[in-house]
Amino acid sequence: MITKYRLGQPFNTEAVVEELENHPFSDFPLENTTAENKTTVKFHLDNDDIIFGLGETVRGINKRGWIYESWCSDETTHTEDKRSLYGAHNFIVVRGAKLFGLFVDYPGKVVWDLGYTATDEAVISFDDVNADFYYITGENERDIVKQFRKIIGKSYIPPFWAFGYQQSCWGYTTEQDFINVRDNHRKNNLPLDCIYMDIDYLDHFKDFTVNTDNFPDFKGFVDDMKSHNIHLIPIIDAGVKKEEGYSVYEEGHKKGYFCKNADGTDFDCGVWPGVVGMPDFLNKEAKEWFGRQYKFLTDMGIDGFWNDMNEPALFYSVKGLKKALNSLKEYDADKEIGIWEYFRLKDIFNGLPNSIEDYSSFYHNVDGKMVCHKDVHNLYGTFMTNSAGEYFEKEFGKEKILMFSRASYIGMHRKSGIWFGDNFSWWSHILLNLKMLPSVNMCGFLYCGADLGGFNNHCTRDLLLRWLQLGVFTPLMRNHRALGTKAQEAYSFENTEDFADVLSVRYRLIPYIYSTFRRCSQEDDMMFRPLAFDYPEDKLAIETEDQLMLGEECMIAPIYEQNKNGRYVYLPEDMTFVKLSGEKVTTEKLSKGIHYVQVALNEVPLFIKKGKQIPLCKPALSTAELDTENLEYIKG
Ligand code: GLC
Repeated sequence: MITKYRLGQPFNTEAVVEELENHPFSDFPLENTTAENKTTVKFHLDNDDIIFGLGETVRGINKRGWIYESWCSDETTHTEDKRSLYGAHNFIVVRGAKLFGLFVDYPGKVVWDLGYTATDEAVISFDDVNADFYYITGENERDIVKQFRKIIGKSYIPPFWAFGYQQSCWGYTTEQDFINVRDNHRKNNLPLDCIYMDIDYLDHFKDFTVNTDNFPDFKGFVDDMKSHNIHLIPIIDAGVKKEEGYSVYEEGHKKGYFCKNADGTDFDCGVWPGVVGMPDFLNKEAKEWFGRQYKFLTDMGIDGFWNDMNEPALFYSVKGLKKALNSLKEYDADKEIGIWEYFRLKDIFNGLPNSIEDYSSFYHNVDGKMVCHKDVHNLYGTFMTNSAGEYFEKEFGKEKILMFSRASYIGMHRKSGIWFGDNFSWWSHILLNLKMLPSVNMCGFLYCGADLGGFNNHCTRDLLLRWLQLGVFTPLMRNHRALGTKAQEAYSFENTEDFADVLSVRYRLIPYIYSTFRRCSQEDDMMFRPLAFDYPEDKLAIETEDQLMLGEECMIAPIYEQNKNGRYVYLPEDMTFVKLSGEKVTTEKLSKGIHYVQVALNEVPLFIKKGKQIPLCKPALSTAELDTENLEYIKG
């Protein structure tokens, strides 16, 4: 059962689509205080209580013992000391003396102190007295999640081909770069469906342009790639380059579609293109206008996008940079400065990106009312992505255009997927990837995945193979890396056959992954679940956070450590241990308990429950060539 409690007059975040009766906040069942523009909600935690949720965050599946902040952040290092990543997903399920779910529908910063300050207490707070709270009770965790998912609406379903393998790299610049990626995959029997275009395809990083020196006939190029069963997927950044003669900027500026300073002038800031205007996606007209701009690319045959830098990421604001540069005038290059003065000087510039001072200094025009960005920060990327999603659905219908975004708030899951942003080529990030999956599923984000192989740093052959062995199961299976990092396309490493073996397994599993995905979208279900959801009485299962339940049929347990030929795995019931490699399938019945299982670098491990079965098709080099009719089954 869901009860909605309304506090004050909340901003309409569009997260919830079902109309529920508003109950007064005075009836809210958890201890709370509202005073001086601050709301606090508290509940007691017993030793064994568990908190699930919060979507895209660092640390464990059980969120207890850390402090998180829902604040969409351009966070470049996903280490465990961080409190925020790109998404703001204010939903938790608490298993304690009482079992309940809680969604805090508030678009500014929400602090979740989950047993961090006091071990036995959870404290949720934000600096406002306007919000909606949804308190959910149910039979079990999964039931609570389903009820929540029902009120936030069905999860986005991308086109079928978006379940194929995808290659990306910041740095592919010319037509030839893309052709090489395509041909090297095909030549080495490596399946591939999409190649991503990062900011380098643009004319001076301007949204809705193409560098015509590098792509003299872009439409022809897109078509040619499609004839090879490859979809090109361009990036769209939030900021619009401020440049005279650039029609998107000129029109946006003339119509007042950019966010404003308090004095009514455009808020200018620096991102990849240099100085940009930030489209005011919370202004209905501006939102629709931005959505229509995607037509420039869909007219040329493009049918997939990734929206980036939409937390929004600000490298600096023009006014902030000016202030910083002015403060330099106090210094004399020929005079020595003290060490603390040196650090102060350094901080002036370190503090420029994504500063709260900047976020507090610009405004949105919401139905004619000026709303400070800080108070609605977490909606920016979502409203950007929904601007496109709404346009696509109107023009092309559902399930036609692939789209995912970096920043998100609950509600965006109806129009788009997410990717987990700029991770590192670290073994620990395989595990982080795995732990985020059930949490984001709880919040409606089903189409999701991490940069396989890692975005920052240099990836090694074994790391990529092991990471792909998890990626084989994630709806978005994309290998992406940063400019200047070591090549990480599957064909860049020795013995490409091993990669072909692993990628072929993905294609063999697509009928299963796709049908599970669709069912989870239609039934408001999770594709990935913590073992704790399925085996609530099993103490070992509850504490196992490096394995996940997938669909109704199986469990996954990838290897995430270097120089390991296997791993310990906990089976909460009897299961069949399956190893898939190319067209090879080996099975072994294992009984409930702990086992050490060997998995070679070219094998994908999977555990099927007793009495369940998984369909497999023949592998193919693209989804277009996949025969999804003739299936064989592996039985558990
Ligand atoms: C951001 C994105 C990354 C992209 C880069 C350049 O860091 O998260 O995926 O490659 O910008 O556009």
